Amino acid sequence: MDFKIAVIPGDGIGPEIMTETLKVLDKVGEKYGHNFNYTTVLAGGAAIDATGACLPQETLDVCKASDAVMLGAVGGPKWDNMPGGERPERALLGLRKELGLFANLRPAMVFDQLADASPLKPEIIDGGLDIVIVRELTGGIYFGERGTEAGTPEEGTVAWDIEKYSEMEIKRIAKVAFDMAMKRGKKVTSVDKANVLDSSRLWRKTVAEVAKDYPEVELDNFYVDNAAMQLVRGPKQFDVIVTSNIFGDILSDEASQITGSIGMLPSASLGEGNFGMYEPVHGSAPDIAGQNIANPIATILSAAMMLRYTLGLGKEADAIEKAVSDFLDAGYRTPDICGPAARAAGQYKTTSETGDLIAGLI
Ligand code: IPM
Ligand code: MG
Repeated sequence: MDFKIAVIPGDGIGPEIMTETLKVLDKVGEKYGHNFNYTTVLAGGAAIDATGACLPQETLDVCKASDAVMLGAVGGPKWDNMPGGERPERALLGLRKELGLFANLRPAMVFDQLADASPLKPEIIDGGLDIVIVRELTGGIYFGERGTEAGTPEEGTVAWDIEKYSEMEIKRIAKVAFDMAMKRGKKVTSVDKANVLDSSRLWRKTVAEVAKDYPEVELDNFYVDNAAMQLVRGPKQFDVIVTSNIFGDILSDEASQITGSIGMLPSASLGEGNFGMYEPVHGSAPDIAGQNIANPIATILSAAMMLRYTLGLGKEADAIEKAVSDFLDAGYRTPDICGPAARAAGQYKTTSETGDLIAGLI
């Protein structure tokens, strides 16, 4: 089949990891008889440099006319203080909002072969760790009313951002989480701050209503501070975590770190229907850009998520995941997860070697 994919390489290591990902996708196309037609477009710092705007209209138009979007990473210190306040990160928020991508799936799993990399004690992650954070992505404090104004002379300047959720927004993200749980361990943990916030009380009540349609799924409610603690104390108690935009931002960084290999973690941002945007959990890592030492696997696994969730190509997605697992089984290690012993044993693989090897294993 023929598929249209909008490709946003972005900034920092984005272009390098995207090159390797397209290499792997092309191999999948060749082997399974699909045509992936890429249109490369600009967003983030690269777009600011070329057009002055972080998210040109053309980029949105191409994304909307595509089946899916693959994104590398955006941002970097170069664009931190742009005149007019243009920031690469705004491109991400704009893409999410304009494309209606309200559901962000962020898996945090420990690869058996990399269990040593986790900073947690072996007994805490023994038997594997496999969590999916379902983060609401187009609502809450990220998109609420905000402002900055002069306060009283004693106060100086005052600024505020409003956390606001509707039942509609909570219901649709809760459904994504329960549907996901049905395909996994049948357990949902909803995370909020209902002991303090009205928006969280509505969140908790609405999630409980959705849960009635899923009698087989166990629902727990955690306050966010406790959830942050439990993620370190006993992460295996979690299967699917569903939470708001801001709590999901924070908890997904924490969850990725306990796996010890953030360079391996993919993510999907989905709307109604099948459309989605796929990107690694990690950022643009400008400090290591252009050195052929970035780990492309998170982006390669994001492409697998795209095949599975948007393009309906489950078998092909499995093939990518299997190739990554075979790469690790063969002892190969990307620079971020390659200790001195593995280095001495010749297991070290650069960005481009990693792409070649994984493509070859498809
Ligand atoms: C993320 C990032 C973004 C977010 C930033 C770059 C705007 O941290 O995708 O988690 O806060 O959502
Ligand atoms: Mg974040």
